[in-house]
Amino acid sequence: MFTIHAAKKGVSALLLAVALMVSAGMAGAAEQEHPVIERQTWTFSGLFGKYDDAQLQRGFRVYTDVCSRCHGINRIYFRNLAEPGGPAFPVAAVKALAATFKVDDAPNEEGKVKKRPALLTDPFPSPYKNEQEARFSQNGALPPDLSLITKARSAEAEAPFYRVPDHMIRDILTGYQEGGADYVYAYITGFSEPPAGVKLAEFMNYNKAFPGHQTAMPNPFAGGDGLVEYDDGTPRTVENYARDVTAFLAWAGDPKLEERKRLGLLVIGYLLITVVLLGFAKRRVWRDVH
Ligand code: HEC
Repeated sequence: MFTIHAAKKGVSALLLAVALMVSAGMAGAAEQEHPVIERQTWTFSGLFGKYDDAQLQRGFRVYTDVCSRCHGINRIYFRNLAEPGGPAFPVAAVKALAATFKVDDAPNEEGKVKKRPALLTDPFPSPYKNEQEARFSQNGALPPDLSLITKARSAEAEAPFYRVPDHMIRDILTGYQEGGADYVYAYITGFSEPPAGVKLAEFMNYNKAFPGHQTAMPNPFAGGDGLVEYDDGTPRTVENYARDVTAFLAWAGDPKLEERKRLGLLVIGYLLITVVLLGFAKRRVWRDVH
């Protein structure tokens, strides 16, 4: 009697919890201010994904020609641009590029700080001296450093995971981790005139991917196709610029991706072999027990 009673109580508590969860999820969906972000195909997605060096090189070019006017990538050192698993530019080219930037030298014996050309060991210089200067030049908005932006942003799921378990399982099986890249691509290609009836605040621009749809960043590709020179024959379209610069930023945020995936696959392979060996060992050990 007593136990049945307790069990009944337990079941109703469980039902209540489920009801609460579902209604919270529905409320969340109704108020969802994050627009749905379309998924893109990236060479670096999935278990076997790798960066495309040529794409990273083009993306770096788009970054330097277009984005570096307002955004830094201060976690990237010049030497990283020549490393394998990244854009892998020739070292001499990166040295020459670094030398075109001036950075602070170590203080001399009089304590004065002079400028010197940047070296492979220097981080990529930021366009602004400090946050105040950045905000002052952008009408008060702060263009974030882009080194980790593809990790700092993500594409929100259309619904909470327990309402779309099939999507959750698909994402686990395919190792989906490109939400940040999908968002950045959607953001930099999401500019348009505001729809009728939407009034923008001063200095704001309409963007369909940005939460709230009003962003302080102007359309970086307003110049249209042909804005950035490509020398490998890839069509110079806004779509390619956006895709390439996003891939470059994905690498900046995850420079060890290739090594990580390679090691992961190796470990899984090793464990599978171990499972088979342990299976044989177990059969042998228990052979005489009936
Ligand atoms: C004229 C200056 C300017 C240029 C050029 C520019 N940005 Fe921005 N960017 C901004 C500002 C300002 C913000 C902050 C926007 C806000 O908070 O509303 C921003 C924000 C961002 C964000 C963060 C959005 C978010 O979700 O918070 C990303 C990503 C970004 N920019 C990428 C880029 C890329 C990639 C390029 C080059 C293709 C670029 N930007 C070129 C000024 C610029």
